[in-house]
Amino acid sequence: MTGSPVWHPFTQHALEPAMKHIVRTEGAYLIDEDGSPIVDAISSWWVITHGHRHPTIMEAIRSAAESYDQVIFAEYTHAPAEELATGLIEIAPAGLKHVFYSDSGSTAVEVALKMALGYFHNIGASRSRISVMEHSYHGDTIGTMSAGERGVFNAAYEPLLFAVDRLPFPEPGREQETLDAFERFCASGRVAALIIEPLVLGAGGMKIYPGLVLAELKRIAERHGTLLIADEVMTGWGRAGTLFACEQAGIAPDILCTSKGLTGGALPLAATLCTAEIFDAHLSRDRRRTFFHSSSYTANPIACAAAVANLAVWKEEPVGGRIEALAANQRRHLKRFVADPRFRNVRQAGTIAALDLSVPAGGYLADVGPRLRAFFRERKLLIRPLGNVIYLMPPYCIADADLDRAYDAIDEAASAFARGRL
Ligand SMILES: Cc1ncc(COP(=O)(O)O)c(C=O)c1O
Repeated sequence: MTGSPVWHPFTQHALEPAMKHIVRTEGAYLIDEDGSPIVDAISSWWVITHGHRHPTIMEAIRSAAESYDQVIFAEYTHAPAEELATGLIEIAPAGLKHVFYSDSGSTAVEVALKMALGYFHNIGASRSRISVMEHSYHGDTIGTMSAGERGVFNAAYEPLLFAVDRLPFPEPGREQETLDAFERFCASGRVAALIIEPLVLGAGGMKIYPGLVLAELKRIAERHGTLLIADEVMTGWGRAGTLFACEQAGIAPDILCTSKGLTGGALPLAATLCTAEIFDAHLSRDRRRTFFHSSSYTANPIACAAAVANLAVWKEEPVGGRIEALAANQRRHLKRFVADPRFRNVRQAGTIAALDLSVPAGGYLADVGPRLRAFFRERKLLIRPLGNVIYLMPPYCIADADLDRAYDAIDEAASAFARGRL
């Protein structure tokens, strides 16, 4: 126990060492109270894209704070929110025409689910079933947990979670089973939406599947009038190699959720984008058809200004080139583990690299997870395996030498584990 009143997320305080204070952030580093730089190899829970405290984004925050704090977002609007919405529509997959703001990935997904159900309610169709993919993660609120994988994370809350239809994960060679299951669910005529993480299931274990499967799921959804919600909260902003992962499947979803990298990771903000058809189903002189959702901090002007600056960074800097270079670097490093029996399932999607440490019993609660974390912490590396799944998702500015260090530590950890020293 730390003696602090703070209750940290996803933290078993009875087992964790005292928390180190971080006093500063810079580029790919967190600087701790001793002044030591820690390599942020997971981008502080996947939010930091260009690097901590990117100067353009920091300057936009400082400048917006000269004019704004929070502004109510009903009855009034402001330039940062307007500019951001226009910018997002320009770069988002075709057909997405409206932007609804919220504060986190979870709220972006809640908004998406409510938009989908509101759409069918307002057009007078009785569809309320949600299809999801096995091993998905969409957040920690009741709605998003309902759509996510059930397990130790949400066992206590199970009585409150709503039922969903689950598609099997498209394991290599068994993709047709996923498509057939979705076809069967849709045939009931009751499926409002399929919510899916495009190409990479993040918290579910960095499980990667081909864009062709996503494209086929979209075709099935279209055939049955089911909406497709792309949860790009993790995959967006270049993580999976393209600005949005949907691009690699050549599809445009009906609803897209984005957060994390939306502000480059500097401030909390989320956006749920939807088609004109969904917006129009809520447009009426009948006030009962209003989209009844808000949060106090909707479209915080300073966060929106940070996101507008992030769009400028994407336009003005060679972000695509940095992503390609990082992806190539990850590929090169992963090669050394492909035929290594200490690891299984060595995989990559864009800047995301993952490999499973071969253990007798895996899973999120595998004991090896916290021991690996401690091993990396001692070496000033922030790497948080999901059980025995080790992954690296660094900011795009990470130095080659720091990536080398991360992979050397993974190698060392596997050797220590094999010798029973971890
Ligand atoms: C795919 C996906 N959706 C939703 C969320 C929830 O986002 P937040 O933690 O900002 O609520 C996450 C978080 O990791 C995520 O990876």
